[in-house]
Amino acid sequence: MSLVRHVATATSTNDLARAWADEGAPHGTVVSADHQTAGRGRLQRRWASPPGQNLAMSVVLRRDWVAGRVPWACLAAAVAVAEVAGPAFRIKWPNDVQDAHGRKVAGILAEAEWGEGRLRYVVVGIGVNVAWSPPDLPHTSSLAAAGVDTTPLALRDEIARALLSWVDRPVEALAAAWTERSATLGRHVRIGAVEGLASHLLGDGGLAVRVAGGDLVEVRSGDVEMVSGGPA
Ligand code: BTN
Repeated sequence: MSLVRHVATATSTNDLARAWADEGAPHGTVVSADHQTAGRGRLQRRWASPPGQNLAMSVVLRRDWVAGRVPWACLAAAVAVAEVAGPAFRIKWPNDVQDAHGRKVAGILAEAEWGEGRLRYVVVGIGVNVAWSPPDLPHTSSLAAAGVDTTPLALRDEIARALLSWVDRPVEALAAAWTERSATLGRHVRIGAVEGLASHLLGDGGLAVRVAGGDLVEVRSGDVEMVSGGPA
């Protein structure tokens, strides 16, 4: 098993993992916290939960990847979380894990550190609503509400194991596992100004969307909204 550390409080487990990676923490180092005082989400959002209720963890990855391989670490984390959570859980592109009703139960924030033209490390931060979800965000839920009986630390160990196994699998295998779990592909979606049918994953983990007129538009970041009433 890899190096695992747990702390009571961190600003963000991604901050801790990055600091330890800068000091030489090896591939597979796992950091978790009961509480984050400045947890970060994607797209500059905050990520918060009460102490001890949910899982906040980060994993240090050291692999000699080109830039286009890095986003697959996030997709691998989403597959790992969904697998561990159970067969009802699905992935919204790029890496939100949702319950059977499309409510978000987990999110992933990966941060890559480059130096001298090569990847030094990637920190993959994973937040899972184990027992609590934000009451002001109705499109969220928790594993407990979905009937999954676990604890943050048991979940951490299972997710770390699954993630570390997935990151070293070929991208094709990962794409197949992600696609099988996808809540996005084949749906009519809107991502910023792009609207159309979510078609497939691109080679760098981006999303190909077939827009009206038939062109494929490549999307690399943003929030997916499902469009009801769109063409089948
Ligand atoms: C998102 O869905 O916006 C991503 C949320 C990622 C949250 C996790 S919690 C552990 C790690 N530390 C952070 O500050 N963020 C990630």
